[in-house]
Amino acid sequence: MIGGGVTPALDEAEKVRRVYEREASNYDRNVKLPERLLFSGGREWVCARAEGEVLEIAVGTGRNLPHYPDGVRLTGIEFVPAMLEIARRRAVELGRPADLRLGDAQSLEFEDDTFDTVVCTLSLCAIPDDRAAVAEVRRVLRPGGRFVLLEHVRSPLRPVRGVQRLLAPALHRFGADHLLRDPLEHVQAEGFSIELLERSKLGLVERLLARKPGPD
Ligand SMILES: C[S@@+](CC[C@H](N)C(=O)[O-])C[C@H]1O[C@@H](n2cnc3c(N)ncnc32)[C@H](O)[C@@H]1O
Repeated sequence: MIGGGVTPALDEAEKVRRVYEREASNYDRNVKLPERLLFSGGREWVCARAEGEVLEIAVGTGRNLPHYPDGVRLTGIEFVPAMLEIARRRAVELGRPADLRLGDAQSLEFEDDTFDTVVCTLSLCAIPDDRAAVAEVRRVLRPGGRFVLLEHVRSPLRPVRGVQRLLAPALHRFGADHLLRDPLEHVQAEGFSIELLERSKLGLVERLLARKPGPD
């Protein structure tokens, strides 16, 4: 950009990097409370639906690793090296073989139609361009492949959404977190068929199983 400015997308990526470099060593401790209050059982729910060749996008510190069934072949990508480092350590400690690498969910390095399942937990709220990430999920899934998602989303309940609107600017500024997103819109726009959709916790938490069309 002329004039030494920063494009919004680069700015957002830089913010994510800064936030999660700083957060990495505390992430496992800090996420335990929201996991208990909002997402209890969610990681198990997601991982139980993973099969075959599996890609997890934005794998973070690898908190889903203990929950995958034996027999899945797991690849994970993560944007921030400090988070990835912890995930790799966890995989070794668990004895869980996994190909864990640096990558950008908005622009995946994999060929079209590579994976049977793509998993994403608590990360479409952090990835700067969540629509691009969902489009990439569709591209790398084989026809008939599954996208399994656990996420906090914009509540359909007006008073709850009002509170979210109040909190959203600060959470975005200091945590690179988007409170008002609704990934279902992108999943539908990308032509997935919705097989399971569960909303809980005043509409704040979504569990989703969606399938890429074909083969017939
Ligand atoms: C709230 S954490 C969730 C981590 C993990 N999925 C979990 O369930 O605990 C959000 C993660 O998204 C990652 N992230 C953000 N933007 C990304 C991108 N463009 N590509 C890959 N990972 C990204 C962050 O680095 C961070 O590790």
